[in-house]
Amino acid sequence: MSDQATPFELLGGEPGVRALVDRFYDLMDLEPAYAGLRALHPATLEGSRDKLFWYLCGWLGGPNHYIERFGHPMLRARHLPYAIGNAERDQWMACMTQALREGGVEDTLAQGLRQAFQGTADWMRNRAG
Ligand code: HEM
Repeated sequence: MSDQATPFELLGGEPGVRALVDRFYDLMDLEPAYAGLRALHPATLEGSRDKLFWYLCGWLGGPNHYIERFGHPMLRARHLPYAIGNAERDQWMACMTQALREGGVEDTLAQGLRQAFQGTADWMRNRAG
C-alpha cells in the first residue's frame, strides 16, 4: 500500500501541503533573493497562499479543491499577465527548493517534487530571457 501512496499523502495530506505553501510564501516575503518574484505578486499574499494550496492538493493527487472553486486551472493562461522568463522561473524554483529543504521533506520525495515543479515552471514562461 505504501508504495502506492500519492505525493499528497507522503507530504502529510492537507496540513503538510499547507505548511509547504506557507513556508514558500514566507520565504518569498523575507528573502532578498526572491524580491523580483515577490514584486510580481499582490501586496498581500493571503489569496496567493490559498490558491497555491488548493491547486497543489489536487496536483499532488489529493482533493481537487482548486478545480471545485475555479474550474479548469488553465495555469499557463492565468500566468500570462505576469512576465515570466528564466530569471522568474529560477527564483520560483529556488524558493520552492528552499521551502522543501527547510520543511524537512524527505530527500527522494523532495527530488521527485522538484522535477515535477521544474516541468511546470518551465512551461509557465511567457517571454524570452
Ligand atoms: C515559473 C515561475 C512562476 C511565477 C513567476 C509565478 C507567479 C505567479 C503570480 C504572480 C501569480 C498571481 C498571484 C495571485 O493572484 O495572488 C500566480 C498565481 C498562481 N500560480 Fe504561479 N508562478 C510561477 C510558477 C508556478 C508554478 C510552477 C505553479 C504550480 C506548480 C504555480 C501555481 C499558481 C497558481 C495555482 C496560481 C493561482 C492562479 C489563479 O487562480 O489565479 N505557479 N503565480
